[in-house]
Amino acid sequence: MTRTILVTSALPYANGAIHLGHLIEHIQTDIWVRYHKMRGHDCHYVCADDTHGTPIMLRAQAEGISAETLIERVHAEHLRDFRGFHIEHDSYHSTHSEENRTLVSEVYLRLRDAGLIERKTIEQYYDASREMFLPDRFIKGQCPRCGAADQYGDNCEVCGATYSPTDLINPVSALSGTPPVRRESEHLFFRLGACTDFLQQWTRSGALQREAANKLDEWFSAGLQNWDISRDAPYFGFEIPDAPGKYFYVWLDAPVGYMASSLHLARERGLDFDTWWRADSPAELYHFIGKDILYFHALFWPAMLHYSKHRTPNGLFVHGFLTVNGAKMSKSRGTFITASSYLDCGLNPEWLRYYFAGKLNGSMEDIDLNLQDFIARVNSDLVGKFVNIASRTAGFIVKRFNGRLADRLPELPLLNELQLASDTIARHYESLDYSHAMREIMRLADLANQYVNERKPWEIAKQAENEHDLHEACSVSLNLFRLLALYLKPVLPALAGQVEAFLDIPPLQWTDAQRWLTGHVIRPYQHLMARVEQGQIDAMLAANTAAAAATPGAASVIPAAAVSTTTSTAIPAAPVEESTLINVDDFARVDLRIARIVRAEHVDGAEKLLRLTLDVGEPEPRNVFAGIKSAYDPASLEGRLTVMVANLAPRKMKFGISQGMVLAASGDAPGLFLLSPDSGAQPGMRVK
Ligand code: MSP
Ligand code: ZN
Repeated sequence: MTRTILVTSALPYANGAIHLGHLIEHIQTDIWVRYHKMRGHDCHYVCADDTHGTPIMLRAQAEGISAETLIERVHAEHLRDFRGFHIEHDSYHSTHSEENRTLVSEVYLRLRDAGLIERKTIEQYYDASREMFLPDRFIKGQCPRCGAADQYGDNCEVCGATYSPTDLINPVSALSGTPPVRRESEHLFFRLGACTDFLQQWTRSGALQREAANKLDEWFSAGLQNWDISRDAPYFGFEIPDAPGKYFYVWLDAPVGYMASSLHLARERGLDFDTWWRADSPAELYHFIGKDILYFHALFWPAMLHYSKHRTPNGLFVHGFLTVNGAKMSKSRGTFITASSYLDCGLNPEWLRYYFAGKLNGSMEDIDLNLQDFIARVNSDLVGKFVNIASRTAGFIVKRFNGRLADRLPELPLLNELQLASDTIARHYESLDYSHAMREIMRLADLANQYVNERKPWEIAKQAENEHDLHEACSVSLNLFRLLALYLKPVLPALAGQVEAFLDIPPLQWTDAQRWLTGHVIRPYQHLMARVEQGQIDAMLAANTAAAAATPGAASVIPAAAVSTTTSTAIPAAPVEESTLINVDDFARVDLRIARIVRAEHVDGAEKLLRLTLDVGEPEPRNVFAGIKSAYDPASLEGRLTVMVANLAPRKMKFGISQGMVLAASGDAPGLFLLSPDSGAQPGMRVK
């Protein structure tokens, strides 16, 4: 029976780059969706950028651009990154869209008409110099419990106390540094408490993993608080229809963004939006999310849906947090790895898809990316086991049999075993236990390799009278290989595509596991996948360390709401900006050197760049593009000394490859100031 399924990943914030934490979620979702599509189900995958709220508004201000310009730019970057990892959203839309504006109003008005919206005047901190109310994260002061200085308005990072910003001692606005004043304002609240019975019932409907259901029970025992859904201007978001000057809090319109993205898709492809969302919908709805946003998805969202006369989700698939080498992702260690740095360093996106698949088991436990294990696993499983089967056998078919596979395969228990595994592997994909699926597939790959090793085609090939044996061994091997490619296809779609091209067959569907490929002409074998090199990993870490060090000052003033690094809490705590403290070892990873600018030139078509040729005491000079054109006449630079980062991963730019970075100071006032050493320094000297 064909199922109609709508699937989502959480909407990434539009003020930060996609990083490996986001990717684990999108890869997990994408694998599930691709599997269901291969099964012939009517499955669609929607997502969007989460574009509203104070941090995005302030980030745009800091960059001197409109919020609309910022979110448009970030949307393009996010799409590029996801495409780079073969994430195939059917629609990747935006919460700042007409579809979303209409749907949010509709949901809100229905909640209001159901008596679930309440108005109440509350007192909050206000920054008089910036003329805005301050979110908790933008107020700092002394912790009321332990007295620690410089704590945020919602919790103390020293003693762990949680409190409200009005409890802080000597509060100051993180935006202006001035003491905030208390000011009253009317806010709109969603009466979540009134939805308790419904939510308790929904929790028992089987939509939640056991760990998530337990978390909800804790929240029920504590009692559900009404939810403040309005914010005062200035705010980047949608104005509330019956409350001029008030805006929907970003978390109200964000999940409605799932609906908006599917409406966009429905309009684009002529599909029926109501089939997915109406109260008696026959479709299945699943949300993939991280554990930090469970509260929003397991309480607010089902209540919003139910009381606005829509259907509720069939399942929330909650995953844990990504750690790198056993620790929270860290900017200073370079383990806060962006999607683009991974791709720029020449790493294959399918290596990561495979590694994550091997780790994901459908639980809420944190997932560790151990970089040594990553190299070992990918090289041994994908290159050593999987690709190896084809590379050792395909050549004989092409050279000795004009590319034609045998007309019949022998009766072999091994062939049956691989075919029968289809159901087990399917069950693992269905239940999100990809790690089991990968283990099973690699067990089968071991059997296939054992077969090749026993038959030894390279030996049989030496005797002309063994033609039939050679043909049979290679045809069996390639059929085993084809089945493994089919089973891996949800995880490795591009590699499977290459295999389909080489076998000259139409896109593999799940049911194709029940047939064999015989009497069929294949194409010459082409190299399928390279090994991971340690150097690529080193380059990626260095690139992220350097990028973190180069983050402009403005960003540190803005709590990075998009930079969620929480690892252990399931309660929606505001994410904490990474500390920028580093130790000596971290610093030592950056290879700073004195460089002489041998040549400086304009670059055709580049508005901001100069091309510098740098002598760093190596046999070959370095080519570096530096964004300093506005401040320097190139001729004035030639011959002078400066400081460069010599171990920055090479970056491919439109104009050529940049092999490092020179250091320059800049601040709020205009101007750029290239660093230079005191006289006596020589090109190539280390800066420490
Ligand atoms: N914009 C909200 C979600 C709104 S959904 C209606 C948000 N954005 S986010 O960019 O901070 O996170 C997006 C998703 O990525 C969330 O599911 C979050 O849990 C996940 N992750 C962000 N950092 C992560 C890790 N380090 N590890 C694993 N997942 C992480 O929350
Ligand atoms: Zn404290």
